Amino acid sequence: MTDRQKRRSTTIAEGGRRKEWRRRLVNVPVERASTILFDSVAELEGGHPQLGEYRYGLQGTATHWALSEALTELEPGAAGTALYSSGLAAISGALLSVLAAGDELLVTDSVYGPTRTFCDTVLKRFGVTTRYYDPLIGSKIAEVVGPSTRAILLESPGSMTMEIQDVPAICAVARDRGIVTLLDNTWATPLFFPAIAGGVDITIIAGTKYVGGHADVMIGTASATKEYFARLQRTAWDLGHAVSPDDAWLASRGLRTMEVRLKQHEASALKIAHWLKNQPRVGLVLHPALPGCPGHDVWKRDFTGSSGLFAFDLDGDAATFVNQLELFGIGYSWGGYESLALPVRPIRAVSEPPGSNLVRLHVGLEDPDDLIEDLSQSFATLPD
Ligand SMILES: Cc1ncc(COP(=O)(O)O)c(C=O)c1O
Repeated sequence: MTDRQKRRSTTIAEGGRRKEWRRRLVNVPVERASTILFDSVAELEGGHPQLGEYRYGLQGTATHWALSEALTELEPGAAGTALYSSGLAAISGALLSVLAAGDELLVTDSVYGPTRTFCDTVLKRFGVTTRYYDPLIGSKIAEVVGPSTRAILLESPGSMTMEIQDVPAICAVARDRGIVTLLDNTWATPLFFPAIAGGVDITIIAGTKYVGGHADVMIGTASATKEYFARLQRTAWDLGHAVSPDDAWLASRGLRTMEVRLKQHEASALKIAHWLKNQPRVGLVLHPALPGCPGHDVWKRDFTGSSGLFAFDLDGDAATFVNQLELFGIGYSWGGYESLALPVRPIRAVSEPPGSNLVRLHVGLEDPDDLIEDLSQSFATLPD
């Protein structure tokens, strides 16, 4: 199928599976390499690193290129995708590719905690100032931008407090002023929000979550427009980021089923979110597809679906509630086939979180009725 546009499910099934990489196998195999052997010094010293060219383990093998290419094909407007050893490494690597000493970075106040820590410690040490902005600021970001603002980092929804940001409005302001925009799009993936088409320059995914999908791999990816991809990839290499081929292979394997898994996460999470709305010990349900979630109207306008992660405000102690759950695991991360629950402890600089006693759920692929029974028994044991 070279002369007509493939539909998305076909792209997910076919992406990156070049015959020259997979040969007669269905899947591109795990190719392990540090050293690549050349036929001559001239060959070794000639050429330059690019996707599909064996140079050194750092530049990857067909196992990595297949994953990069598949992700690039899924992101309309992307020129390429760099791989990293975790989602956090993708965020820090992407930021380092566009920032320099003396620059200012604007970061959504709803950002993932370790991203905040990276900005407040490492970036600060290297002379980059971070200022936080209200996640719901929209086009009023124009009033926050300063003379040295070089980049804006978005995360939509915020992975703890679930605010949906007006990504196109923020990116339009940034573009007018020559400011680069980066989005952590882990929750939606390009399947529910094609970020570059929405105006973003660099879109980042913690592949540890839905791409891997089985809670057994750490990987991060960043896809960029033509304007930013070369420096993104160059910086990843300059920083020495290398992904194990086993992990790249697991991520490619996960990617093939990501769309069907996401549809089930979506259906189950919505069923549970609607049920929670009617529980007496529950206040606001922070699910982007439900009215009441900050930014819900923007979600309706921009997104084509919702995934399995959301939060709710509890009348009671969040830790007690989570400890009583039996089917929901207690642990970091999300996006696997299994359900998880956590008390949310937001850190804020300039905005209020949308609830004071939040529980975050990741709804996995178990039967949602069993999950509802589990939540029910935990509500029943909460002290009055
Ligand atoms: C929204 C978001 N971005 C990035 C990350 C970091 O990904 P990783 O755990 O692969 O470093 C996480 C992890 O929980 C996350 O929730």
